[in-house]
Amino acid sequence: MSKYVVTGGAGFIGSAIVRGLLREGARQVVVLDNFLTGHQQNLDEVRSAIDLQRADIRNYAEIAPILSGADVVFHEAAIPSVPRSIDDPVPSHEINIDGTFNVLRAAASGGVRRVVYAASSSAYGDTEVLPKVETMTPRPKSPYALQKLVGEYYSQIFASTFGIETVSLRYFNVFGPRQDPSSQYSGVLSLFIKAVVERRAPTIFGDGEQSRDFTYVEDVVDLNLKAARAPGVSGRLYNGGNGGRITLNEAWRLVQQIEGLTIPANYGPPRPGDVHDSQADVTSAVADLGHAPRFSFEEGLRLTLAWYKAQQTR
Ligand SMILES: NC(=O)c1ccc[n+]([C@@H]2O[C@H](COP(=O)([O-])OP(=O)(O)OC[C@H]3O[C@@H](n4cnc5c(N)ncnc54)[C@H](O)[C@@H]3O)[C@@H](O)[C@H]2O)c1
Repeated sequence: MSKYVVTGGAGFIGSAIVRGLLREGARQVVVLDNFLTGHQQNLDEVRSAIDLQRADIRNYAEIAPILSGADVVFHEAAIPSVPRSIDDPVPSHEINIDGTFNVLRAAASGGVRRVVYAASSSAYGDTEVLPKVETMTPRPKSPYALQKLVGEYYSQIFASTFGIETVSLRYFNVFGPRQDPSSQYSGVLSLFIKAVVERRAPTIFGDGEQSRDFTYVEDVVDLNLKAARAPGVSGRLYNGGNGGRITLNEAWRLVQQIEGLTIPANYGPPRPGDVHDSQADVTSAVADLGHAPRFSFEEGLRLTLAWYKAQQTR
């Protein structure tokens, strides 16, 4: 029976991967999380089907036995925020770089077949050309972007020198149910949705004309499951995006339109480290992993809004 470990499995994307694995019939799914930003309730529906381990990826001795013998480790644990990596850089550095090194080291010494690493499109920084292709030279603009890039490089080095398979997936602005909107560091769409549900204006940092390739979380789950299985891709890097591009102003307009409301946004100063435009070239993921995103931005947004509203009435 194959064992799967999801680090950060109580988080937004990690818990969706856990549900995806169970849907596929996985029988041994281990969640490793220290609940820094993740929540037990993200796993409520599947709690009896998983093995939940509270552990911190900064502690090698704690995580090594949990990872040992896994077929695949999905490494999602991180502090996933550009502004937080600037305001409070030490924990981001320790978790995103040292923690990732620990996960790779524990996986290699524990006989894990493959690690699928949650990389970030922030590694590209501001490029003159869109969409962003995996062959472009990375230009990280923030500690977070650099940390996630170091994790990719480490994944490649572990594949070439430590006898373990690794695949890195550069996610592009993932959104969907269970994304936590409770902090100033939360993903922008979760903040928009929280604002509209509460009938108040969100704050957009900058003029709102910055664009993002918003990617629905279930497409990211599919991509992970394909990356876990695909033959001949060890050491490789793939964009995990939808392939589209929409400005924050357009996204807020669509949120209001779906809800039938008009609430002008507030605007604040641009945030340091923020990339202006982002859009994925998904050619390689389609060709090598057989991945094709299924959810349009509007579809994903409708599903996400419906989920947040259902939570309110529970
Ligand atoms: N959400 C996005 O748009 C996006 C984009 C690019 C990359 N990513 C990457 O995807 C991954 C998941 O992000 P998310 O949006 O689900 O964030 P999240 O905050 O919901 O999930 C991160 C999880 O990691 C856990 N964690 C943090 N520090 C830990 C530690 N020291 N030990 C064990 N667990 C720890 C948290 O408790 C949380 O459950 C991250 O690696 C992030 O960098 C996310």
